[in-house]
Amino acid sequence: MTATAPPNEWVKVRAAGKVNLALRVGAARPDGYHPLATVFQALSVFDDLGVRHAPAGRYTIRIVGEQSDLVPADATNLALRAARLLASRYGGEDARGAEIVLKKTIPVTGGMAGGSADAAAALVGCATLWGIDTDPDELRELGAELGADVPFSLMGSTALGTGRGDDLVPVLSRGSYHWVLALPDFELSTPAVFRAFDELNPDAPEHPPEVPGGLLEGLASGDVRTVARHLVNDLQPAALALRPGLREVLDAGADSGSLAGIVSGSGPTCAFLAANEDAAVRLSVALSGLGLCRTVRRASGPVPGARLQAS
Ligand code: C5P
Repeated sequence: MTATAPPNEWVKVRAAGKVNLALRVGAARPDGYHPLATVFQALSVFDDLGVRHAPAGRYTIRIVGEQSDLVPADATNLALRAARLLASRYGGEDARGAEIVLKKTIPVTGGMAGGSADAAAALVGCATLWGIDTDPDELRELGAELGADVPFSLMGSTALGTGRGDDLVPVLSRGSYHWVLALPDFELSTPAVFRAFDELNPDAPEHPPEVPGGLLEGLASGDVRTVARHLVNDLQPAALALRPGLREVLDAGADSGSLAGIVSGSGPTCAFLAANEDAAVRLSVALSGLGLCRTVRRASGPVPGARLQAS
C-alpha cells in the first residue's frame, strides 16, 4: 500500500477522448460483442475528474460541463461503477468511499469514448486516493470489465486493438496530427450502430479485416497524407444508415479543405484530418460558418491516457 490522500484533498485526473484511425469489424460473437481490428489515437479533448474521500460505503458523483445533463449521475455512471469495482477488488466497497466531480468536454454518446475516459480517470484517481498499489496491467484488466474502450483510455497515445478492442499493443507514431471535430446536435447509441452493422453485413467475416498496412506505415513515418489516405471505419455506413444527415457533414469537411474525414467510432462525431495546424484553423472556421453542427472543435493527437494532474 502507498499512502492514501489526506482528508478533503482532491485527487485530479485528466482523460482524453479518441478517434479510431481504422475500425475493422467482424461478425457478432455469441456474447454479442464484435471482433475488431482497430487503431486508436487519443485526442486532446479531455474530461477532468476530481475525487476525494467520502464516508465508507458512500459513492457520489456530480457532473458539470458540456452536455452534463445527458450523463446519468446514478449507479449506472461508468466513473462511479469504476470506483466501486476498484474498491470491491481492494478491501471492499463498504470499506471505502468516494466523492467525484466530473467536468465533461468529450462529446457524450459521440463515438469518442467519453464514458470510457471517465471510467479510466476514476480508476486512476481512486487508486491514488486510496493508496492502492496497483500497476497499469491490473488497471487495464479492471477497465476491460467496465467497457471495451476503457483499457485504451488508460493507455492513450496510439495503439492497435484486437479482440473487443481491448487487447492492445502500442503503435509507433511520429509527429502530431491536427483534427477538426464536427459534433452534430444528436447522439448515436453504440449498440444500435453495431446492430445496424449486422443488418448491413449479414455475411461479415468471423475475423475482422486487417487494418491497412499503409496506415501503420504512414504513422511510423509521420506522413499525414498517407495516414489520411488509409483512414477506414466499417461502422460508418451503419452510422450513415441511422443518420443520413451525417453525409452532408462529411461532404462539407471534404469541400472545406480536409485531407480526409471519417465518422469517429460509432459516431456521430465526424473527425477531419488537416494537413497542419493552420489548415485545421481554416477548416474549423469554414465548418463552423456552415452551421451544420452543434459545435466544431480542433484537437490534436496522439496524447497520453488518463493521467494524474497537479493539485
Ligand atoms: O464495451 P462497451 O460497453 O463500451 O460496449 C458498448 C456496446 O457496443 C456493447 O454492448 C456492444 O453492443 C457494442 N460493442 C460491440 N463490439 C465491440 C465493442 C462494443 O458489439 N467490440
